Amino acid sequence: LAQPDHTVLREAAAVLRGGGLVAFPTETVYGLGANALDADAAARIFHAKGRPGTNPVIVHVHEVGAVTPLVRQVPGLALRLAERFWPGPLSLVLPRSERVPDVVTASGPTVAVRVPAHPVALALLREVGLPLAAPSANRSTCLSPTRAEHVLRGLDGRIDLVLDAGPTSGGLESTVLDITTTPPRLLRPGLVSPADLEALVGPIERRHSGAEGGPVRSPGLLERHYAPGTPLLCVYRQDLEDAATRYGRVGVLAFDENIALERAVVELMPPDAASYAVRLYETLHRMDEAKVDHILVELPPEGDEWLAIHDRLRRAQQR
Ligand code: TXA
Ligand code: MG
Repeated sequence: LAQPDHTVLREAAAVLRGGGLVAFPTETVYGLGANALDADAAARIFHAKGRPGTNPVIVHVHEVGAVTPLVRQVPGLALRLAERFWPGPLSLVLPRSERVPDVVTASGPTVAVRVPAHPVALALLREVGLPLAAPSANRSTCLSPTRAEHVLRGLDGRIDLVLDAGPTSGGLESTVLDITTTPPRLLRPGLVSPADLEALVGPIERRHSGAEGGPVRSPGLLERHYAPGTPLLCVYRQDLEDAATRYGRVGVLAFDENIALERAVVELMPPDAASYAVRLYETLHRMDEAKVDHILVELPPEGDEWLAIHDRLRRAQQR
């Protein structure tokens, strides 16, 4: 689907109304959608993904007005963020209403919502006329899909339909911001940077790692996540060649084309964070397919715009 096709969208909407599962493209990664108001349908998502019931899912709607029935109230702060960033890769955590089934929120007091910026996702949401619960369309803890082929690799036979609109434009998941706390708290760094958020709403709490101890605020921030099937290690540029000799046939994500590695599958990565994000999962999926023994990733620079990439790489390394 280069553009929304009405016959296809009608079929997808019928599957969703019947309680089925439809994978669809968003601007970040492909999502696995179900009717968010139907507890049985939403439970099928968890079953298909092998996702722990303690990890809540994001609810997708076509416009900010459609958030109202899902939450106790829409605070002014949410409206300001929505006006600036929706449709787009920002998920907002708000106090949930009674209408949202427990399975969607993992029985918690909040619900995460966003309006995705993809013409097919928006057309599907309009056609079905329901909010769609949709985590990334991959098996739990695995790499998120940026193409329909990636969805099928993990979920073929477990879902009803996938809408194929080619590769996604963003490549990494949305930023998750909890605005039920003061200050708002970054639960997952993503395509909207903390600086973008702070420019609009002032200081936010940036500690997002589950590693800090205490209760896990966003269960999806469990340590191992977003991981390729192949073991992955991040290394400094100066250690790449040495590491490559120690891990058999390696796949390497490097910035420098002058890198001299024998027997390695080398992928040159773009030097700016946004382009790197678009390519990261795609490249890791390719390394899995190439069946290398180990993936080595040259450590990207520090800095706000690389925050989400460092976060995903750190968790991809956990075994
Ligand atoms: O870009 C994205 O966000 C993609 C596309 C499909 O929209 N979706 C996605 O969903 O990445 P998922 O389920 O793979 O990740 C959702 C994250 C998890 O870290 C989850 O724990 C967190 O959002 N989350 C969802 N609901 C929450 C809630 N009520 N409170 C705190 N965290 C929540
Ligand atoms: Mg996910």
